[in-house]
Amino acid sequence: MPSRYETYAVILALAGSLGSSTVSQAQPAAPAAPVTYTADGKLVFPKDYRTWVYLSTGMDMAYVEGADPKQHLFDTVFVDPTSYAGFLKTGTWPDKTIMVLEVRKGQGRGSINKVGQFQTARVGAEVHVKDVARFKSGWAFFPMTGEASEALPQTSQCNVCHEQHAAVDTTFVQFYPTLLPRAREMKTLSAAYLAEEKTAGGAR
Ligand code: HEC
Repeated sequence: MPSRYETYAVILALAGSLGSSTVSQAQPAAPAAPVTYTADGKLVFPKDYRTWVYLSTGMDMAYVEGADPKQHLFDTVFVDPTSYAGFLKTGTWPDKTIMVLEVRKGQGRGSINKVGQFQTARVGAEVHVKDVARFKSGWAFFPMTGEASEALPQTSQCNVCHEQHAAVDTTFVQFYPTLLPRAREMKTLSAAYLAEEKTAGGAR
């Protein structure tokens, strides 16, 4: 029996002699590109978004004043890992960035929990995609109701709020704590957000 070290040495030698294409075939198949469309132009809902990079969870976030809700809701944001790495380099999103906002119900009492809220059933999901060749503004929104869905019009309420209030390239980086400092460093925060931060005290 060769020792474990000898076996590795043989594998490495083989890998070196076979060339990189053969080596990559021996590895598990790469996951499909995160942004894919059906033949009729619908965005295919990324099934594995829960394995992507976690950005943040908001609870009961609302953009108008109102009473405290009886049913709590959590929204959690994920982004594909390649685009996250791109953001850390440049402070903004590369083309083909895809972000998912997942909405789940909150529950107070259950199992050993007495105080606070934990997440339960998914009640919705929405997607935000950067695809400069395909969408006039560069980005589009998709409500995710089935396997695939059409982009909302570029004038939708989603587009308007994100364009007017989001801190970086129409995304709400002011609420994503691992990204906000990087955007500040790279000076990619939008003028509108910087003005809002001065008057309203911004996210910290
Ligand atoms: C009034 C403002 C407003 C409107 C309208 C709005 N959003 Fe957002 N959106 C937000 C905020 C704030 C966040 C950050 C959520 C968080 O921190 O958890 C967000 C985050 C998101 C994200 C995560 C990625 C990102 O861009 O930051 C997606 C996806 C998203 N929204 C989709 C939608 C869709 C689809 C619609 C329309 C159906 C919509 N939004 C309408 C304010 C808005």
